[in-house]
Amino acid sequence: MMNKVFGDSFLWGAASSAAQIEGAFDADGKSPSIWDIAPADKIKNGDSCHDGCDHYHHYREDIALMKQMGLRSYRFSVSWPRVMPEEGVISEKGLQFYSGLVDELLNAGIEPMITLYHWDLPVWADRKGGWLTEDIIPLFREYVKAVVEKLSDRAVWWMVMNEVHCFVWNGYLNGLHAPFRKNIFSLNRLTRIVLKAQAAGVRTIRKYAVRKPMIGSAVSAGAYIPLSENAEDIEKAYRDSFYSRVGTTSNRWWSDPAVLGKPVSIYGVFRSFQKDMAVMQCDFDFIGINFYSPWLKKGDVIPEEKRSSLGWPIDGRGLYWVLRFYYQRYHLPLLITENGISLNDRVSEDGCVHDEKRIGFIREYLEGVTRAVKEGIPVLGYQYWSLTDNFEWAEGYDPRFGLIYVDYATKKRIIKDSGYAYADIIRNM
Ligand code: FCB
Repeated sequence: MMNKVFGDSFLWGAASSAAQIEGAFDADGKSPSIWDIAPADKIKNGDSCHDGCDHYHHYREDIALMKQMGLRSYRFSVSWPRVMPEEGVISEKGLQFYSGLVDELLNAGIEPMITLYHWDLPVWADRKGGWLTEDIIPLFREYVKAVVEKLSDRAVWWMVMNEVHCFVWNGYLNGLHAPFRKNIFSLNRLTRIVLKAQAAGVRTIRKYAVRKPMIGSAVSAGAYIPLSENAEDIEKAYRDSFYSRVGTTSNRWWSDPAVLGKPVSIYGVFRSFQKDMAVMQCDFDFIGINFYSPWLKKGDVIPEEKRSSLGWPIDGRGLYWVLRFYYQRYHLPLLITENGISLNDRVSEDGCVHDEKRIGFIREYLEGVTRAVKEGIPVLGYQYWSLTDNFEWAEGYDPRFGLIYVDYATKKRIIKDSGYAYADIIRNM
C-alpha cells in the first residue's frame, strides 16, 4: 500500500455555522440574532434563516451522515442568542443542545470543533451598540465562559471568531450583511473593539477550559499566486499578498495585531491605540484558514468552467500559496477551517446528486494541501465548507455548498456524489 500523505491524526471534516443551518430560531427560549430580523429585501428571494436545515431537530441524522462519510471532525458554531437570550441570562436549554451535539459527535468518533462567534449577534446586544461599543467585551466574555464551562470537559478545539474581516466589512462598512450598517468611518473603532474582544475570548477559554484547549480563529485568508516559481516572483507574490491591500481586506489588518502584537501603523489607524496592542495579542495555538479563491491580478481571465455558481474563481494552487505565506509570516500551525464551492446542484431522476465539478474542486485544492504538507508546513486538518447546503447569508438558499443536499421543503438529506468521493479521499489520502 502507498504511504498516505496525511497522517491518521489529520482532521478531515466539514464545517457549518449556527445561523446557516440550525433553524429553530425561536425554539426553547432562543432570542433573535441580527440575521433573524434581516429585512426580506436584504436577502435574495426574500429568504430567511428561520428554518435553515432544521439541524436543531435533525442533528442526530446529520451526525449519522457524517459518520457514514468517515469524517473525523466537525466544525460548527454556537449561537450566542441561543445560549444568552438576554443580557445576563444563560439558557440551560440552549447549552444543553450543544452539549447533546458534542456527546453525539464523540459517540460517532468525530472531534467537535467549536466556533464561538460566526456572525449571529444577539439583537439585544446589537441594540446596546454591538461591536461598536466596548460594552460588548465583558458580554462576550460572559457568553464564552458559559460555553467553555459547559463543553470543555469534552471539546478541545476552539475558534473564537469567524472571518472578522467579513462581518466588519459587510455588516458595518458596506451594509450588505446584518446588521446592515454603512459607515466607512467606523472601521477604526470596530477594529479596536473586535480585536480586543477576540483576545478576551482566547483568555477566557484558557482560564476556564477543563481539557487543554487548542485555540485559534478562522480568518478570510487571501494570496496571490506567483507568476513563476523563481525566488523573485515568489517574494513578490508574498509581499503583494501582505502589503498591496489596505484596510480590512488585507491579511495583515486582523492577523498582525492578533498574532504578532504588531500595529499596522502605515494606515494611521492603529497609532491611536498603540497601548491596546498588548491587549489584542492572542496566544493562538493555530490559525484557521478560510480559503475559496486566490486574489486575481489585473488582466487575469477566468473561464466560466473555472468559476463557482457565485462566480468565485477556482484555482487549487491558491490554497498551497496561502498556507505557505501564512506559515512564513506567522509561524503557527494551520487548520483549513473552510474551503468549498457553491453549485446549482439538482437531484437527478435516479435520486442522486451528480456534482462532478465539486469532486474536481476538492481534488484540485487538496493537491495544494498535499504540496504544503510534503514541504513540511504544519497543516492540522481540512474542513470542507459545508457539511450540508444551507443559508448563504444575503445570497439566501440559492448557492449550494454542501456535501449533503438538503430539500428545504421536506428537510430530506441526500449525500451528493462529492460526499461519497470525499469519503474515499479520507480513507485513501
Ligand atoms: C465564508 C463564511 C461562511 C460561508 C462561506 C461560503 O466567508 O465564513 O459562513 O458563508 O463563506
